[in-house]
Amino acid sequence: MPTVKITSPISESDFRLQEAYKSLRSNLQFCGPDFKVIAFTSCMPNEGKSSVSLQVAISLAELGKKVLLVDADLRKSVLMRKLKVTSKGVRGLSHYLSGQYPLDEVLNATNIENLSIIFAGPVPPNPAELLGSTLFQNLVTAFRSVYDYVIIDTPPLGSVIDSAVVAQNCDGAVMVIGANTISYRFAQEIRDQLEKSNCKILGVVLNKVNVKSRRYYGKYYGKYYGGYGDYYGTAEGR
Ligand SMILES: Nc1ncnc2c1ncn2[C@@H]1O[C@H](COP(=O)(O)OP(=O)(O)OP(=O)(O)O)[C@@H](O)[C@H]1O
Ligand SMILES: [Mg+2]
Repeated sequence: MPTVKITSPISESDFRLQEAYKSLRSNLQFCGPDFKVIAFTSCMPNEGKSSVSLQVAISLAELGKKVLLVDADLRKSVLMRKLKVTSKGVRGLSHYLSGQYPLDEVLNATNIENLSIIFAGPVPPNPAELLGSTLFQNLVTAFRSVYDYVIIDTPPLGSVIDSAVVAQNCDGAVMVIGANTISYRFAQEIRDQLEKSNCKILGVVLNKVNVKSRRYYGKYYGKYYGGYGDYYGTAEGR
């Protein structure tokens, strides 16, 4: 199995971001053991799904959980670029789902203990079809018995249907919403669409928040350091 080197995109001095991810990780854990296959989606492109899913996967692996990160954005994958992995010789999900390569050739170990990755692979002509195939369904079923968490990065649901197709095989979905990017109504529409796939929406990550603006600053501290101080301490012990 090939090994990929990953460095966390969060700098060690960015305590605020580190705390936010620890909190997100804890919230996922509190969903219980029935929620292990989790899709990350959004309404629009660029809201931060890939960044959040990568960091959540790292964060869970650092806690000792066996984690698989799957890049199911078969149309516009950025994960390899983000991790500075050269595409030469790297096989991905589209290779597997189109029957070109076996699983052990598309599955990558990483330098982070407990974290494995499947990249998207080359853009296929029929992404939604591949993700809706029985092969993908069976793959997710097989992963369920091997990993504690399977984190699946998907394209924005406001642009293409792929994430709703993926969500059909997931236990839950997390919506990533970029601060000040979309209307409440649009978010509701996307939520409704996601719910039609019978996938439970676990919550929303409000990303790209300008914490220097007074509006968010107060809320942030109120939430993470004020109201939930005790809960937070307990969660970290898990
Ligand atoms: N919290 C954040 N603060 C600042 N920049 C961020 C944050 N999250 C993501 N970004 C930046 O926003 C850009 C888009 O992020 P990312 O690729 O994760 O979004 P995406 O939702 O996966 O996009 P796409 O819909 O194209 O797949 C990247 O340049 C990323 O570095
Ligand atoms: Mg992305």
